[in-house]
Amino acid sequence: MKALPKKSWPYDKLIAAAQKALANSYSPYSKFAVGCALLGEDRAVYSGTNVENGSYGLTICAERAAVFTAVSAGCRKFVAAAVVSNSEKFPYPCGACLQVLSEFAAKLPIVLVNREELTKETSLEKLLPSPFRPGS
Ligand code: THU
Repeated sequence: MKALPKKSWPYDKLIAAAQKALANSYSPYSKFAVGCALLGEDRAVYSGTNVENGSYGLTICAERAAVFTAVSAGCRKFVAAAVVSNSEKFPYPCGACLQVLSEFAAKLPIVLVNREELTKETSLEKLLPSPFRPGS
């Protein structure tokens, strides 16, 4: 665990964007707020937050919200990601989000940030070494 790398680009920018998205989290059921920011190959930052629903299964995670925002804007390649939470735990992306991320990045450094602003660096290839590919 490391202190927040405030000056280490691109994480400073990504963490700030993910924290801004987290502030808009709609998570009245779990109270677990998540924000995600993706750095596109186009060098733009795309963010998303988790949006829950009274029909719980319809909830969308922050990471997939960020992916869908990026793809909707025309960006299909990601080069770095930050995921932040309001919990003492690090917000490891769920399997569904890892699979969706893998569609748009083979290698993706990911920084996880908890509510104390401690950081953990990991990567998509570490968390999902064998993603599903049609025909594989
Ligand atoms: N959540 C995310 O936003 N990302 C993940 O990768 C895992 C879980 C959200 C969904 C739900 O709103 C809350 O965290 C608790 O599961």
